[in-house]
Amino acid sequence: MHDPAVSFAARLIRWQRQRGRHDLPWQNTRDAYRIWLSEIMLQQTQVATVISYYQRFLERFPDVGTLAAAPVGAVLEHWAGLGYYARARNLHRCAQVVVEKHGGRFPEAPSDLAALPGIGRSTAAAIAAFAFGVRAAILDGNVKRVLARCFGVEGFPGGAAVEKELWRLAESLLPEAQIEAYTQGIMDLGATLCTRANPRCAECPMAEICIAKRDGRQAELPVAKPGKPLPHREASMLVLTDGGHVLLERRPPMGIWGGLLALPEVPLAEADSFAARRGCRLVATHALPAVQHSFSHFRLTIQPLLCRVEPDGSRVEEPGWEWQAVESLDSAALPAPLKRLLLCAF
Ligand code: ADE
Repeated sequence: MHDPAVSFAARLIRWQRQRGRHDLPWQNTRDAYRIWLSEIMLQQTQVATVISYYQRFLERFPDVGTLAAAPVGAVLEHWAGLGYYARARNLHRCAQVVVEKHGGRFPEAPSDLAALPGIGRSTAAAIAAFAFGVRAAILDGNVKRVLARCFGVEGFPGGAAVEKELWRLAESLLPEAQIEAYTQGIMDLGATLCTRANPRCAECPMAEICIAKRDGRQAELPVAKPGKPLPHREASMLVLTDGGHVLLERRPPMGIWGGLLALPEVPLAEADSFAARRGCRLVATHALPAVQHSFSHFRLTIQPLLCRVEPDGSRVEEPGWEWQAVESLDSAALPAPLKRLLLCAF
C-alpha cells in the first residue's frame, strides 16, 4: 500500500464493490448500444434525470438499427427536456455510421469509438471499458476533481497543460484487471463523496492517501477557472466553555491555520456527543452570529455554536486539546477570524 498508484486502484475497486452504485439501468449489461446511449445522456445531465429518459428512449429505439432508421425528428422528440440537443443529432448520426461502416456493431478500440460523432476521448474509454472490458482511462469533470485532490494536481484542469498531465495520471493509475469496477468506481466517488462542495472525506476510501485531505485543501483543489469567484465552504465550530475556559484544538501543521489553535470543527448536531467525548456535559447552547472569512483560494462561512458545559468528572488532559483561560484569549495563537469571534463572545 505504499505506492499511491497501486493503492489508488485497489482502494477504488474495493470501495466500488462495497459502496458504489450497482443497479443503474445501464449497468449489468455488455450491450454497447445501451452503454453508449447512457454515456451520451450522462455527458451533461445527472443520473437522476437521465434514468426515465433512458428507459423511454430504449422502448422506442431498442437497438442501433432502429435508431439509425428513425427520422431525426423522432429522436429529438425523445430527447426533449434533456437539453444540449446537438447530442441527440450526433447520436442519430453515430447510429447511422455504426450501421453503415461497422455492420451495426460498435467498434471495440477507444480510438475507433472516438472517431464516431459525439464520442470524445473520455466517453470512448467508458464505452470500451464497460462494453468490452478494454483497459482505457476516462477523464470527465468528476474524475478531474478526484485526481486533482487525491494527487494534489495544481492549476486549472481546463487548461491544456494541466489536462495533459491529468490524462497521463489517469492512464498511469489503471488497474491490470477489473477495469469495469474501477471505471464505475471513479465515477461514483466523484459523484457521491468527492463532490465539489462539502466532500465527505470521512467516508472516502482515499482519505489516507489524499493530498488535498492531508493538507486541508479540499476547497482549493481542483483550482478554479481564473477569474471565477472563489469557492465557498461552510463550517460549524463549537465554542465549548465552562464559563472561565474555552476548548481549543491545535491544528495539524499542514492546511489552513496549520499549527495554530482553533475552535473544533464539528457538525452542530454532534455537539452533545462531542462534549461527552471531551469529558463534559452539555447544559445549554446558543447560536452565535456567522463569521465570514476569505482565504486566497476560498471563502469560509463559520457558524459558531456557544456550548455551555459542565465537567462530568472524566475531563483529562489530551494531546492536541487545550482549555484556554478566557482572560488569555487575546494573546493566544488563534487565527484572526476566530480571535475576533471569541473576543465578541466573552
Ligand atoms: N456518468 C457518466 N457515466 C456514468 C455511468 N456509467 N454511471 C454513472 N454516472 C455516469
